Amino acid sequence: MKEAFKMVSLQQDRTKACSFDFLNRETVESIRDFHKSFPMYQPTPLACLKDTAAELGLGAMYVKDESYRFGLNAFKVLGGSYAIGHYLANRLGKPMKEVDFPTLVSDETRKELGDVTFVTATDGNHGRGVAWTARQFQQKAVVYMPKGSAAERLANIQAEGADASITDLNYDDAVRLANSQGEKYGWVMVQDTAWEGYEDIPTWIMQGYGTMGLEAYEQLPEKPTHIFLQAGVGSMAGAVAGLFATIYGSERPVITIVEPDKADCLYRTAEANDGERHFVTGDMNTIMAGLACGEPCSIGWEVLKQCADHFISCPDYVAAEGMRILGNPAGTDGKVISGESGAAAFGCVAEIMTNPELSDLKERLGLDENSRVLFFSTEGDTDKENYKAIVWDGKYPSVK
Ligand SMILES: Cc1ncc(COP(=O)(O)O)c(C=O)c1O
Repeated sequence: MKEAFKMVSLQQDRTKACSFDFLNRETVESIRDFHKSFPMYQPTPLACLKDTAAELGLGAMYVKDESYRFGLNAFKVLGGSYAIGHYLANRLGKPMKEVDFPTLVSDETRKELGDVTFVTATDGNHGRGVAWTARQFQQKAVVYMPKGSAAERLANIQAEGADASITDLNYDDAVRLANSQGEKYGWVMVQDTAWEGYEDIPTWIMQGYGTMGLEAYEQLPEKPTHIFLQAGVGSMAGAVAGLFATIYGSERPVITIVEPDKADCLYRTAEANDGERHFVTGDMNTIMAGLACGEPCSIGWEVLKQCADHFISCPDYVAAEGMRILGNPAGTDGKVISGESGAAAFGCVAEIMTNPELSDLKERLGLDENSRVLFFSTEGDTDKENYKAIVWDGKYPSVK
């Protein structure tokens, strides 16, 4: 349905390069070196869906498959692990380049640091990454989840030894709860979004996501013309967009941010374009649980407002469509198991390419048979029951 799709464009001066020091290639290479010191590190695959691209009227579609990340089924651990690593390095009085996985898991480090408890709020993936990292480093994690969170996602976090619970709050209020509990008990807040006065850890989290972007950059056989990034608070999108913009300068690909219409805080912020961040409040009831965030990350927005071209707000059925196509691609393309949040941007593009009512968006985005499009499937089937209901039983059918 056309009315459910909205798109706003920022008039970027494309003759000028924009670059971001904290996401430059050299910095991100050193962050990837930190991740390489983890014994479970392996670059995740970049799927090339050439038959699917042809079927949809595009030149190429590349999909970074984060279901393979550290056995955790989502990209998020890259941020939590780097941020916790950086925090502990500071506590040890060591520069990051002297700290690696073996140092951080060692008994000497544990003894020197004593007990540290990390606290966070999460729809699932970030909390699992924080809990996993805390456990690796012999520390504790406390995790608050918004109401309606999937039981499987809670169980996965508890399985990492964290004290995790589902609250009756929405995501942004769960973040405030984590913050106040952290202050009360002296826990270290590891939140994947920034606000004024809380910027170091979210910056490290975004830098950690840089590892995913850098791997994709190195795996791509050709330069993409377009990158589509789904967003909750916009930390992931800011990190990837910032890295690619810094690498390509004024030749950067067209960058588009995709959000669920129930939680389109970046879309609203871009639409207003008045120097303020604009929030969505209430329940934000979307199947894209990882994207159900109403307050943009201040650092992510700072990057996106300089280098993102378009912001799309779209209905839930596009995520379901993305999951079905990625799980059953055309011709000889290999399948990608992608969850609701992971498939959002891909589904959005598939819908735009196949729904004649959206041809104006296709034109504004400049999508055609010459386009080489990069996506990040940021999670696998992190809610298996819902994955089956969508992919097998056709829940949330396409509206064409
Ligand atoms: C699978 C998945 N994709 C994308 C995102 C969006 O990341 P951000 O909140 O940084 O925009 C999330 C956030 O939790 C997620 O879990």
